[in-house]
Amino acid sequence: MNSMAVFSLKGGTGKTTISASLGWILAEEGCRILLIDMDPQGHLSQFFKVRTPPGRPSLFDVLIKDQPLREAILPTAQVNLEIVPAGEENLRLNEALIARPWREWRLKDALEASQPLSYDLVLIDVGGNLSLVTHNALLAARVLLIPVLPDLFSYLSLKTLFAFLQEAGRTYQFFFKMIWVLINKINPHRPLDRENRQALEQYYGKFLVPEVVREDVKLVQALRQQVPVTQAAPQSTAARDLRKVARFIRTMVLAAPAP
Ligand SMILES: Nc1ncnc2c1ncn2[C@@H]1O[C@H](COP(=O)(O)OP(=O)(O)OP(=O)(O)O)[C@@H](O)[C@H]1O
Ligand SMILES: [Mg+2]
Repeated sequence: MNSMAVFSLKGGTGKTTISASLGWILAEEGCRILLIDMDPQGHLSQFFKVRTPPGRPSLFDVLIKDQPLREAILPTAQVNLEIVPAGEENLRLNEALIARPWREWRLKDALEASQPLSYDLVLIDVGGNLSLVTHNALLAARVLLIPVLPDLFSYLSLKTLFAFLQEAGRTYQFFFKMIWVLINKINPHRPLDRENRQALEQYYGKFLVPEVVREDVKLVQALRQQVPVTQAAPQSTAARDLRKVARFIRTMVLAAPAP
């Protein structure tokens, strides 16, 4: 099964926005998508207005109490798009993981134990820090998508992230099948953004998604209304850019071009 973590060390690069948007667009196009909200902040779950109801296991129960992941999956408002939401107890998840055996591998194990699951892609939104929760998200994924902003700190944090990945690869004997860097929130009219894009192309060219997501206030407005931008403003710059990124993911990760 295809699995992709959306992660950057830097906060606010658009991980949740991109996870929600790509999940929605791919589901609209007929792909079966499972979202997993591994960010204890739970923004993805809040965006989709999904909470674990009483009597159903939460992500915390799955990772800490060996409950089946299959039973933690809930529907969203979009057909083909399901989610394992984060609850408030996830704020304690990192601490609770410390005492568990195979503590970095629990999400991967839970996914494997729940097979067969009939998703085209498991999409995991991850918080922007390094913790056991992050390790679980990364070790459960075969593909890594790293959103970056066209600024100096994003560029520097990319260097740190690649160093971390190299170290984690040695420690866990774990390597991603693919790593993609996606430039988000770029304003092509801003000279500094263009310069930063060139620097990213020069040093990380082979990892760069050829499409970018431009800065667009329509995306912020749509998020505020808790509606995907492709629905709130289908012809907006962000909606068009995100559809192109979804097409790229279909071709490269799902090996299935859009209909
Ligand atoms: N292309 C874009 N154009 C304009 N605003 C954007 C764009 N992408 C994301 N944003 C805005 O940037 C902010 C941060 O986005 P988001 O919360 O998705 O980042 P994140 O990486 O998930 O943050 P965190 O590290 O806190 O999890 C949000 O207000 C979002 O609306
Ligand atoms: Mg987020």
